[in-house]
Amino acid sequence: MNKETVLLCDENTEWLCALSDFMSHSNFASVTCMTGKEVQKELYDNGEITTLIMNWETVNHSALEVLRYIKSMKPSLRVFLIFEKQNVLDESGLDKESLVRLGVTASLIKPFNNQKIIDHLKGGQKFDSWKDSSEQKGSEFKPEEIQADDREFTRIKIKDFASGARTVFDHYIKIGSKKYLKILHRGETFSVTRIEQYVEKDVDYLYFKSAQRTEYINYLNSLITKLATKAMVKSDVKLNMMKMGSEMLVAEIYTQGLSPALLKESKTITEGVQKTLRANNDIYNLLRNFVEEEPDAHTQGYLTSLFAGMICMQIPWAGKRTADIVGQASFLLDLGLLKIPPTERNIDQSKMKPDELKRFQSHPLLSVELLEQYNFITDAVKQVILDHHEYVNGEGYPKGISGGQIFPLAKIVCFASEFAEYILKGKLSPVDGMKELLAKKNLLNKYDAEIVKCFVSSLMQKELANKAG
Ligand SMILES: [Fe+2]
Repeated sequence: MNKETVLLCDENTEWLCALSDFMSHSNFASVTCMTGKEVQKELYDNGEITTLIMNWETVNHSALEVLRYIKSMKPSLRVFLIFEKQNVLDESGLDKESLVRLGVTASLIKPFNNQKIIDHLKGGQKFDSWKDSSEQKGSEFKPEEIQADDREFTRIKIKDFASGARTVFDHYIKIGSKKYLKILHRGETFSVTRIEQYVEKDVDYLYFKSAQRTEYINYLNSLITKLATKAMVKSDVKLNMMKMGSEMLVAEIYTQGLSPALLKESKTITEGVQKTLRANNDIYNLLRNFVEEEPDAHTQGYLTSLFAGMICMQIPWAGKRTADIVGQASFLLDLGLLKIPPTERNIDQSKMKPDELKRFQSHPLLSVELLEQYNFITDAVKQVILDHHEYVNGEGYPKGISGGQIFPLAKIVCFASEFAEYILKGKLSPVDGMKELLAKKNLLNKYDAEIVKCFVSSLMQKELANKAG
């Protein structure tokens, strides 16, 4: 497998060589340079680079200019910013939020052990700083109006808001074009009635800063893990949390790129899904009738991971490792669509021109190509993604292979993702979708009969499971 390539920029050549040497011993490839201009040129020429480690005092283009360039040209790049001393960071005027806004993944102050860089590269990124929010007195806060671009915010349905005794994020409501009102302050204690008052005023959504999305995912994951086996928490609350976490995760991966830490969050979601499915028998009743009226662009990823998880629990040969692999693949399989022009992505396949169809049907290959740069994605996950539209009857794509030629785990994800798309498009509940599918033999023949049977068993009555068999 290819090594991950890291670009290093510092004026101190001795330091640069030592770090580069250390990295090669830790299985990373590195490219070194000394100015901001060289960084930009290297990023432009070399598509292999996944991470930039750059000194804040870089000259000829400054670090700020380089960061601006990355934001517009390569937003998925991870950037570690290095400061010579603590006072250099203090004098820069950069705080944690402004670093995130600039697209900086982590900042480090010299001197530090080179192993620290490796830990960061291998996923030492921490998304759990929300735990640091210290308690504040609610009465001190007044709603605060701000002007901001809509793209800076992520919204959640107010009824899904995971209310606790204390909020760990700032939350806003939208009061006009580019106008937001901060109604909950990080660390503030608040009463549920305060939220209910907004619901009564027909406020449907709460907003938080998208720059904090990874932290929000981590926060939701910790709630999901904690609550999965708690009988006193209703199953629909747990389902909503998993849905929010999964949709945010897919949105983050598709807009900001993948990182080892984000992959770790996706594993935690998958484990949370498994744990919740196992501990809550009533969840299947909820799922049977679930209809998504207003699907988010990323709802399909959530449903795919959920349906794949349900199948894994029924298949005798599928253990935890299988569940982990299909869970990860569920969130990544259509990344390749980003390489297809946006106007072509959402057309119905039956209405595509031959060249558009060919491009669209190459998306599993494009997804794997995109993931090649990340050495922390296993070959099994890539194989699932590569075969996620291959059908057992040989009518799938991109290769048109059939039966035993298809990677077995890909057959699970193929059914889960296409069934998710089917019910979302038709605004159907899983039960109604399954009933329709069972009547359409030409569609059903694409999928592995054992997998369909497992899904039906977990979802429906016995007699329908027998029919599928
Ligand atoms: Fe796909």
